[in-house]
Amino acid sequence: MIAGSTGPVVNERLSARARGLGDGRGAGAREGLISFVGGFPDPGSLPFDAIAEATARAMRAHGQWPLQYGPAFGYAGLLDLLVEKLGRDQGIACARDNLILTAGASQGLGLICDLFLDPGDTVLSEEPAWMGAVRLFRTAGVTVEGVPLDNEGTRVDLLARKLEELRGRGIAPKLLYTIPNFQNPTGVTTTLERRRRIVELADRYNFAILEDDAYHDLRFSGERLPTLYALDGGRHALYLGTFSKILAAGMRLGWVVADPSLIARLGGLKADGGTSPFAAHVAYEFCKDGTLEARIQELIALYRHRRDLLLGELDERMPEGITWSVPEGGFFVWLTLPERLDAPRLLPRARERGIDYLPGTDCFFDGGGRQNIRLAFSYAADDDLVRGIRILAELLGEELAR
Ligand SMILES: Cc1ncc(COP(=O)(O)O)c(C=O)c1O
Repeated sequence: MIAGSTGPVVNERLSARARGLGDGRGAGAREGLISFVGGFPDPGSLPFDAIAEATARAMRAHGQWPLQYGPAFGYAGLLDLLVEKLGRDQGIACARDNLILTAGASQGLGLICDLFLDPGDTVLSEEPAWMGAVRLFRTAGVTVEGVPLDNEGTRVDLLARKLEELRGRGIAPKLLYTIPNFQNPTGVTTTLERRRRIVELADRYNFAILEDDAYHDLRFSGERLPTLYALDGGRHALYLGTFSKILAAGMRLGWVVADPSLIARLGGLKADGGTSPFAAHVAYEFCKDGTLEARIQELIALYRHRRDLLLGELDERMPEGITWSVPEGGFFVWLTLPERLDAPRLLPRARERGIDYLPGTDCFFDGGGRQNIRLAFSYAADDDLVRGIRILAELLGEELAR
């Protein structure tokens, strides 16, 4: 509940969902701290001038349309560009009617929850999971059955066991939420063999696969793996993508790929006059001549360097007993602390010393993650990153020595 808020008398009329909610203002970014918290893109890499030029071109070239209401499925020019990109980079063969533009992958995920879930339903999710999904499933009032991960991604053996056990209790989960590439928060990638197994299980138990691939294009090493959507042929899978990590998060543009019948229903659920026609036209003008592909290559080099810097500092500084994942892409490294350290309890002390991190507890559905810290290496500049890891290593070392 929202602490200390008495509010107007209409509070008595709030929905059951809203009454259970936390404070949506959240903690936000903390001034003056070196932040490893959010999956924010590197500020210096944001394409200020190129976006200004693309905006001017959009105003000149498209008449009223960037400034009008748009179609529910999004600006067709950008959809066509995505059809081409998805075929080339994601290995997803699709057409315009397989696509809907959303206000970030976040809105896509919310719409898919509306499409499939009623309160009381059961869903499967990797656990730990992206905290936005943790929040959305909580709001949807569903029971989440967590599936652990290891260095090869989703534990499909445990997934199969869970499905059988649920079937024994007469429960058919409606969907599985998974981030197969550079998972948020753990950074791990699900192997091809396991991806195939997930698709087989979806077929056998008939659940939807909700594939969140927010970091797909930001692979620094290793080979690109086929998406679940491509392996499944779009029979169970819905695919979420976003411009947030490769263009600019402030554009608030993402997309869902799914069977046209599902896309049509998503369009029916989406009562917003079309996802920002303004941002969609600007993004189109920015992307249309190969600028996006060139930018992605620059970002790969930048974030690969940041990942290596972080891993090098961890290797050098972290006390014995602390381990971490080694991601092949994306924004995150996941630390595992010894039993006697407690990530949420240490956080105020870390902040006093000038750093901020995400405690693992924000990524679990009920209570796990006290021995985990998610470090985003995307946001802090090199020197801050190095300084921040020294501070964290010192703090953890002191705690361990107590
Ligand atoms: C795994 C994952 N999915 C979805 C999102 C949401 O991205 P957006 O709504 O900005 O597209 C994020 C952002 O951090 C993410 O990490």
